[in-house]
Amino acid sequence: MSITVRPLSYALGAEVQGVDVGKSLSNSEFDQIHRTFLESGILLFRDQKITREQHIAFSRRFGELDNHDSLPRDRHPDYPELLLVTNIPKENGKPSDSRYTGQQWHSDLSFTPVPSLGSLLRGITIPPVGGDTMFTNMYRAYDALSDGMKKMIEPLHGLHTGSRKVDDPNSDREKEQRKINPPIAQPVVRVHPETGKKALYIGEKVSCFVGMTVEESKPLIDYLVKHATRPQFVYRHQWKQDDIILWDNRCTMHIALGDYQEGEVRHLERTTVKGTPSGYYLQ
Ligand code: SIN
Repeated sequence: MSITVRPLSYALGAEVQGVDVGKSLSNSEFDQIHRTFLESGILLFRDQKITREQHIAFSRRFGELDNHDSLPRDRHPDYPELLLVTNIPKENGKPSDSRYTGQQWHSDLSFTPVPSLGSLLRGITIPPVGGDTMFTNMYRAYDALSDGMKKMIEPLHGLHTGSRKVDDPNSDREKEQRKINPPIAQPVVRVHPETGKKALYIGEKVSCFVGMTVEESKPLIDYLVKHATRPQFVYRHQWKQDDIILWDNRCTMHIALGDYQEGEVRHLERTTVKGTPSGYYLQ
């Protein structure tokens, strides 16, 4: 069966059909997938009934995998390459640490010195309604800015933190996260290393710009996030069991909406492909 590609929206995304990612792909099949990935920013593969080992093996085709040292509580106990995104309570009955994962606009691992190239998220248990993820195209967001705004933001660096939307910002988890992942400065405009195109690099985990106060930075951060997430730049994904979505963290942002009934299970697992080192610590 040959590979076919169907756009998911005008802004970004493509569904790749005719591929079983659990099987080993020829170089020419992989090249076609990789080209579509660079063009579309996100790829959807439906009906992928695969094992954890197959998920990891397919992900490795895109590059070296992160072991999630920056998110130790959320990684799978037996597979450090897998990050759990789950609301299933822990064995001791306490709530899952990852129940709020991704509920802010962000790009994966932007709060570390090696932000991610791309992530592959596999839908294992999906609520009957909701639990959607939205993705936005940061090339389009950058291109749509005025020349004056582009010039103003070009030299800026944003301070990225590993903070999450949480019940308690002083929980052990949040304290631990602040210790492992001190804020890191990342450029607000990035050049994609493979396409050479400029993309906006901002998000709701950016607390301020280097050399500016939080109060001074906030209006511009809020504006850029609002601009980048205008509906015409966004694709909203309604998950089905056995979907795999691969996204390019260098030119997209995403958010988990958390829009599902309390009591429904939502369990997904993610691999995170390492990108190129970027950013600097202030002290
Ligand atoms: C993530 O940010 O990696 C998780 C997204 C989701 O759960 O939809």
